[in-house]
Amino acid sequence: AGNRTFSMIKPDAVQAGNTGAILKMIEEAGFRISAMRMTKLSKQRAGQFYAVHKERPFYNDLCEYMSSGHIVALILEKENAVADFRKLIGATDPAKAEEGTIRKLFAKSIEANAIHGSDSDENAEIEAAFFFSKMQQY
Ligand code: CMP
Repeated sequence: AGNRTFSMIKPDAVQAGNTGAILKMIEEAGFRISAMRMTKLSKQRAGQFYAVHKERPFYNDLCEYMSSGHIVALILEKENAVADFRKLIGATDPAKAEEGTIRKLFAKSIEANAIHGSDSDENAEIEAAFFFSKMQQY
């Protein structure tokens, strides 16, 4: 089974019709999708998800953007899931992302950067619990 990471396909990528292409890249990279949910965040709920960034200058814009359209929340399983997934998505700023990464291919800007990936095992569990009930069988 391996361990888990949490991901979210962001509003820019869903709006652009890139959900399927991104899911295909994720599966082809060896991740198993163990939970998936399309939903729309309120600005307040986006603010809770990104609470760690609330002192950053980009926080308000980020919350507006993340609540601007549908997102797809995912729990992904693979050996070394967190680190391998961050490699697959590439740098936060698409201008700095490596060729072949999801952000290099699909991100529009440093904010509208197509996809999120947890930065630690601990945050993966916290972020997964934000979208998926602990009662649910993964
Ligand atoms: P993510 O990896 O989901 O975590 C925080 C998000 O904030 C990030 O992706 C971007 O969407 C956004 N972000 C990070 N840095 C900046 C920045 N300098 N300007 C605007 N948005 C940013």
